[in-house]
Parts: sequence; C-alpha cells; structure tokens
Amino acid sequence: MNILAPSILSADFTKLGEEIKSVVEGGAEYIHIDVMDGMFVPSISYGMPVIKSIRKVTDKVFDVHLMVTEPIRYIEDFKNSGADLITVHIEACKDLKATIEKIKSLGMKASVALKPNTPIESVFEYVPMIDMVLCMSVEPGFGGQKYIDSVTDKIKTLKKYIDDNGYKCDIEVDGGINFDNLEMVLEAGINVVVAGSTVYSGDVVANTKKMCEIMHI
Ligand code: DX5
Ligand code: ZN
Repeated sequence: MNILAPSILSADFTKLGEEIKSVVEGGAEYIHIDVMDGMFVPSISYGMPVIKSIRKVTDKVFDVHLMVTEPIRYIEDFKNSGADLITVHIEACKDLKATIEKIKSLGMKASVALKPNTPIESVFEYVPMIDMVLCMSVEPGFGGQKYIDSVTDKIKTLKKYIDDNGYKCDIEVDGGINFDNLEMVLEAGINVVVAGSTVYSGDVVANTKKMCEIMHI
C-alpha cells in the first residue's frame, strides 16, 4: 500500500494545525515529524510539546523521524506525546536492537533510517524485526535539498532483499522528492514517500492531491 507522509518541517508554523488539516484533506495517511537535536544533525527543530499539541488536530499516523543521538533516552517521551511510528538512525544508536525493542514494547511501529552514504547491507539484520526502513536521499538536517541519485540503487537492493526473503517491511524515502522524481522512486521499490518543500509550497491541498494521484492513492 502506498502512503504519502508530508513533512511538517516546511509548513508555516504560525498555522500548523491548518497546515496538517490541509494534507489530511489532500489524502496523506502519515504526518512526518522531523526531530533534530543539534548533535546528530547540525540543526535543531522541535520536540515533544509540539507533537503533543498537534495530536489534537488529527488521528492520522504520526511518523516521528528522530535525528537524535542515542534516541533510546526519549522513546517513552515520544510515545507519551502521541507518536505511532518511530524512526531511529542506525548511525545514532549504540544498541540498535535494544532501541527497536523499546519502541515495539511500547506498542509503536519501529523503523530504522540510513544516511545516504551508509551501506544498505548494514540494515539487513534488523529487517525481520522492524516495520519500515527509511532511506535518506539527502544529508539529514534540512528540507529543500536535492535528491542524491545514488540512493536509488540502495532502494532497489533493499527491495530485492525484502522480497527474496519474504519479509514484510515498508521502505520510506526522505529528501528531495518532487513531482518529477516521484514515479522513479516508486518503481525502485518505495511505498512510503516523505515530501516537505514540494507539499508545503503554494497550494498545499492541491500539491498533496497531485502527489497522491501519482502514487495511485
Ligand atoms: C531532512 C528531513 C526531511 C525533510 C524533507 O533532514 O528528514 O524529512 O523535511 O524535506 P524535502 O522534502 O523538502 O527534501
Ligand atoms: Zn525526515
């Protein structure tokens, strides 16, 4: 099943509730929430109080992308704030297995992200225990960057590994997705698409609908 996950990083925070309602109206099933700690990535974004507050405007899945060093410290806090699905970075965890187990023990879906230069094979051993792999197609930290082409082959390799072994695991792409390269990533094996600047520039409802149409949602 294809799912669109608009990233609120590019939304207008003076009207965040409305911005979320617009993507829901357009057909989004996930709301992608980028949490940055200023350590794992250079920038700082937002955290628990914002998530708690926007939890009131929609029942859609909160897809929380933690760009945070040792995220295991905060899993419970994010659960209490309203997260449904948590993504942690393979590069940010000393004990990734324990981190995944913590997420699952709290009844949330678990996902593992890889930066563009991290070999895709490094996530293989975790695939049987997670719900999704997030393939970063830009260096994490900022919205509005250009898609890194070499990530397409990583997606294809992962898709083949999942299918060959009969695993059930979604593949999400994050970074630089626009109307022109969306079809290409779907063909490579993606079924969950993050889009920030493409959705949140101009007519948000129309942009969301257009992306959903390309994704046959
Ligand atoms: C970047 C974030 C992305 C970002 C994507 O570190 O993880 O989710 O919001 O933005 P676009 O779609 O503009 O590349
Ligand atoms: Zn993200």
